Amino acid sequence: MAMAGLSGIRGDRLWKNARIATCAADLGIIESGAIACRDGRIIWVGPQSALPPDFDALEIIDCAGRWITPGLIDCHTHLIFAGNRSDEFARRQAGESYADIARSGGGILATMRATRDASENQLVEAALSRLDAWIAEGVTTIEIKSGYGLDRDAELRLLGAAREIGHRRPIDVAATYLGAHAMPPDRPRDVYLAMIRDQIIPCIAANKLADAIDGFCETIAFAPDEIATVFEAARRHGLPVKLHADQLSDGGGAGLAARFRALSADHLEYASEDGVKAMAQAGTVAVLLPGAFYMLREPQPPPIAAMRRHGVAMAVATDCNPGTSPLTSLLLAANMACVLFGLTIGEAWLGITRHAAAALGRSASIGSIEAGKACDLAIWNTESLAGLIGWMGPAPLHQRVFKGISQ
Ligand code: NIG
Ligand code: FE
Repeated sequence: MAMAGLSGIRGDRLWKNARIATCAADLGIIESGAIACRDGRIIWVGPQSALPPDFDALEIIDCAGRWITPGLIDCHTHLIFAGNRSDEFARRQAGESYADIARSGGGILATMRATRDASENQLVEAALSRLDAWIAEGVTTIEIKSGYGLDRDAELRLLGAAREIGHRRPIDVAATYLGAHAMPPDRPRDVYLAMIRDQIIPCIAANKLADAIDGFCETIAFAPDEIATVFEAARRHGLPVKLHADQLSDGGGAGLAARFRALSADHLEYASEDGVKAMAQAGTVAVLLPGAFYMLREPQPPPIAAMRRHGVAMAVATDCNPGTSPLTSLLLAANMACVLFGLTIGEAWLGITRHAAAALGRSASIGSIEAGKACDLAIWNTESLAGLIGWMGPAPLHQRVFKGISQ
């Protein structure tokens, strides 16, 4: 709220007469607040009464008492894929489990087959049509994982598509390489893992093709010691890591993620108390994915009480994918995190803003409304922040602001 920062400066845009949830310190509510931006960044935020009287901006926007939150951040998606897995939904409804379907060559491998057959352009176009749902909900940063190519060229094509999506729409994309998502059927295990470690990760690091490295640590995917070798390669090449951890069973994923100071460990239904404690010590964010929990009818929710007790930051994401979480609404994910996992409204809001930024290693630039951060905002037609998460229909978004520009 540095007033001095405004003297002698003319802002590009000033939003006035707003109720603001800065999400900087808890929800950081400011009744009757104002936000000023210049060159795409926030230069001032605070109570309107504290705004220097001589401050001027090229454009002044009266928000008529509307709520402003940070632009939303979906920190875990598999947005880019081809094909359709509705047959698996029918199979699960008829009694088969996700793991059984995966072992029979369905699941991730079914999407792999369709994705390998698609061109980069086809993948981009399909993902862009899905992305409209995020943009309509005020999302300004989305993470997108590869992981449905499972060979060098197809994985690099997915990462190329992720970068392209960020160029084609006013949204920031964090691209994550998820080569260790499932074992491709056409290679021996050690050969595939060596390819990830010795060819693909070095190439990604050298050409900045991804912002982080992810893996799926599970009995139907990769063992902890296999993931550890992938993470060691990531570390050698200066890339941060994330992990699909303890989703279907306790495989020690939370502790493994913490050992590598992962940005996040995601899912976590079966994470142990020790794993959660290690995450707290390492500063690893817990990314809760209630869409997959719901679709797979998981009997056990993630250990939220332990996360609170040990002070683990909790983020919430859609996990949008064609199999376990065909969910395109981050606000609905937040709703489900409240209803299914017992998050408070405040926890859910931080989960899709500040803590989601931390899960992407981007706390310095996004996730809250603070001077110096990107001016990414969502302006809402709502009476209350609880109402936004309590509603399960289309989001009452008034306007989305991306790097200071109203969309
Ligand atoms: O996050 N858990 C592993 N990966 C995805 C599911 C991918 C799929 O089934 O296509 C997830 O839920
Ligand atoms: Fe996932």
